[in-house]
Order: sequence, then structure tokens, then C-alpha cells
Amino acid sequence: MNEPNKPNPKSEVTRRNFLKTTSTVMGGTLMGGLSIERSAFAAGDDTVKIVLVGCGGRGSGAADQALSTKGSVKLVAVADIHKDNMDEKLRLLGQKHKDRVEVADDRKFIGFEAYKEAIGLADVVILATPPGFRPIHFEEAVRQGKHVFMEKPVGVDGPGIRKVLAAAQEAKKKNLKVGVGLQRHHQLGYIETMKRLHDGAIGDIVSMRCYWNGSTPWVKKRKELEAKYGRPLSEMEYQLRNWYYFVWLCGDHICEQHIHNLDVMNWVKNGYPVRANGIGGCEVRKGEDYGEIFDHHAVEFEYADGSRLSSQCRHINGCWSNVSEHAVGTKGACDISGHIIRGQNAWRFRSEGARDPYQQEHDDFFDAVRNDKPYNEAENGAKSSLTAVLGRMATYSGRVIEWDQALNSQVDHMPKIFAFDAPAPVQPGPNGLYALPIPGNSDWYKKIV
Ligand SMILES: NC(=O)c1ccc[n+]([C@@H]2O[C@H](COP(=O)([O-])OP(=O)(O)OC[C@H]3O[C@@H](n4cnc5c(N)ncnc54)[C@H](O)[C@@H]3O)[C@@H](O)[C@H]2O)c1
Repeated sequence: MNEPNKPNPKSEVTRRNFLKTTSTVMGGTLMGGLSIERSAFAAGDDTVKIVLVGCGGRGSGAADQALSTKGSVKLVAVADIHKDNMDEKLRLLGQKHKDRVEVADDRKFIGFEAYKEAIGLADVVILATPPGFRPIHFEEAVRQGKHVFMEKPVGVDGPGIRKVLAAAQEAKKKNLKVGVGLQRHHQLGYIETMKRLHDGAIGDIVSMRCYWNGSTPWVKKRKELEAKYGRPLSEMEYQLRNWYYFVWLCGDHICEQHIHNLDVMNWVKNGYPVRANGIGGCEVRKGEDYGEIFDHHAVEFEYADGSRLSSQCRHINGCWSNVSEHAVGTKGACDISGHIIRGQNAWRFRSEGARDPYQQEHDDFFDAVRNDKPYNEAENGAKSSLTAVLGRMATYSGRVIEWDQALNSQVDHMPKIFAFDAPAPVQPGPNGLYALPIPGNSDWYKKIV
């Protein structure tokens, strides 16, 4: 773990040592088609230029945290497919960070290709669109030789995850720093708990369980959107605005939210599951605005040593709500999210010194960027995202799915053409409803695994 709040005069970044790092990798001339001059911090200035791709709730939150890190940072460009979020988020960021936000009108890029030009202006890119786009955007940022902070999940299907894994390797070769928004890795209570688990505080772990059981998050209803914009929306635009409910954009809520818990369990195991089976469906959250995702999944993941993880995620209002992770061992039990160990080595985390993990992850990431410390969370981000995809494939199909099947799946959920008038990858039926996967059905199996 880095110690971002301790000044480290020895590793204070200078333009010179940053260039040294990048030029070693890139042969001193070109980086992904861009001159070093353009991709390093500006001459005589250690300002880190930030570009935000995806100006929504989390993107603006991440930009706020990036702009709150130590040292000189500046938001210089933004990209989004819509203009409506952009101006308001920039206004709020400008209000808080004043001279750290300098986004002229010609640096507000709009459209499906907007990310490319915006990325060109960055030292650090923040990727915070719906996750379906993450592999494409990450690949481009690495191609252009940029450091990246990207939100989780980092992909929604096998082809996307493979793209991220390949780009992660490329990022390592180029000495690019990559942070992934799985902020529990930067949360002191989790870090201290995990140390103890790895040191054997509860003995051999015999069972694990985790939950993201809660209520339905936001929904953008077609009629309300059309009333707001005063025009009918194309199917593509509607899905992009109501992205949570479409697999190609969101991956289902098992990917979108439960990934946090699954990632913690992978951290406990220092590994990833080898297979999964599960049950799931859409029992209550039905209707034309709830797309094609399930409202509950219960998955049993198996790790290489034969240990099992029981996982549940549910989005049904009025049911038991619980977001947590737990492990039981031969010497005790651990409430991982509560940071409590019971049994022979009883312990409880005291929260002194704990900081907001969202800020901490940015402090750690920017410390690595400025001081050239090794930092690449992309591979774990991709494999924890794949864990969630594996779970989804298991519940959608009703079969046992192997890790390698999920990873090597040829089912690509993304559309072939990105345009508001292009065909969306899924269409509603005549009743306005989208088809839901049918476990046990061979035709569906081919569409989802
Ligand atoms: N780490 C966390 O705890 C946490 C919390 C919330 C959200 N997130 C993640 O952040 C991501 C974004 O979530 P959000 O809540 O900010 O969503 P949001 O809908 O508020 O914002 C998404 C933004 O991306 C834009 N966008 C969509 N497609 C784009 C494209 N192709 N190119 C450029 N911009 C595009 C949208 O117009 C919108 O402005 C998700 O992956 C989500 O899981 C993480």
C-alpha cells in the first residue's frame, strides 16, 4: 500500500524522470502515435492533466477525487455521448475546484468517437461510462500511452474482458499506471482484515458467503425520457439512457454491483473461481422499463482448492437488505465487511485513521503516477469482472460454467455500429417487453455463454 499523504521528496516527480520512464518504454520518440511532448506533463510544469470520459454521477465523483489529490492537477477535457450531463457536472466541479477545472468549449467532446480526441489531451484518463464501453475505451487509452483510472466493472462479456486483459499487459510494458474503482482495496478496514485472514487468523477457510441484496436502483422510463426531451427516442438512445437494464451496457446487476463483494472474496482466496453454478430469474421487477436483466441471482462459485463461495444478489424492494462478505474457518469466523474476527484470534477494526476509500484510491493512484510506482489494477479488475460474468452465465443458463468457458466465450454483446440511429443489440417484443434468458434452454445457452 502506498502512503499517499506522506511527502516523498526522493520520488517527487519531475518532468525529467517522468520522461525517462516513458522514453525507456517508447524508444524516446513516439507513444501510440503521439509525441512524448504531448503526453507528458507540460514543460516546466508538473501539472497532471486529467480527462474525463463519461460525465455522469460516478465520473464527476471520480474527477472530484482526482482533483482533490496532492500536487498540481487540472481537468482539461471531457467526453460524453450526451451534452446534458456535461455542463452541469463541469459547473459543479468548477465551483468546488475553481482553477483546477479548465475545460474550454472546444475541449468538450461529444459523441461515440469523442473519447479518442479527449484521451489525446490527457496524462490521466478517467473512464466512467457504462461498463460495456470500458474495454474499447481502455484499449484506446493504453494505445495512446495514458495512465488510466477506470470504474468497475471493466467489461460485461468474454470478448470485452479479453480485450482488457490484453491492454493490461500492454499497459505494463508501457509503464502506465492503471487504477480500477474497486475501492475496498483502498479501505483501511478491509486491508487490515485481509492481512489477518491471510495470516491465518481464522485458520483454514471452510466456507464463504457474500451478498448484495437491496432495492432497485434508478430506472429511466421511456415515457418520462421522451417527455423530458420532447421527442421520441430511438431504441438505441433509450437503452443508453436506461443502461442499467441492458446486458451489453451493464452486464446485469450481478456485474454492476455484486462485483464489489465477489472481488473481496477473490481477494480472500488470492485467486479466482474455476467454475460456478447458480439459479436466478426475474420475479418481481418486471415491465417494459426493466429491460432484460434478472432481479435475483444465487451462485455457488468453486475455487481451485475445492472451497466454495455462496453468493446472492437481489434487487427486490421490501426484502432482506444486506451488502456484506463473510468467511468461516477452522479457528473462527470473519465478518469481512464489518472488519470483525471472532474465535481464537478475536479482533475488531477501530476506525481511527480510516479515510474515505473513494478518495484514498485516487490518492494512491496519483501517488503512483507522480512517483512512478508500480500500479496496475487492471488484471484483477478484469478477473473480478469476469467472476461476475461467470456467475451471470451460470444463472442465465442454469448450467455449470467453467472459468475458461466464460473467458473464451465468443458471445459479444456489443452492437456492431455505434450511432443513435443504429440498431440496438436487443429489441423489445410487440408487447414492449424484452426477452429474458430461460435457464435450461439450449437456444438461450448459445446466446449467453
Ligand atoms: N466504484 C463504485 O462504487 C461506483 C459507484 C457508482 C458507479 N460506479 C461505476 O461507474 C460507471 C458509471 O456509472 P454512473 O453511475 O456514473 O452512470 P451515469 O449514467 O451517471 O453516467 C454515465 C455517463 O456516461 C455517458 N456515456 C455513456 N456511453 C458513453 C460513451 N460511449 N462515451 C462517452 N460517454 C458515455 C453517459 O451519457 C453518462 O453521462 C459504472 O460502471 C458504474 O458501475 C462505480
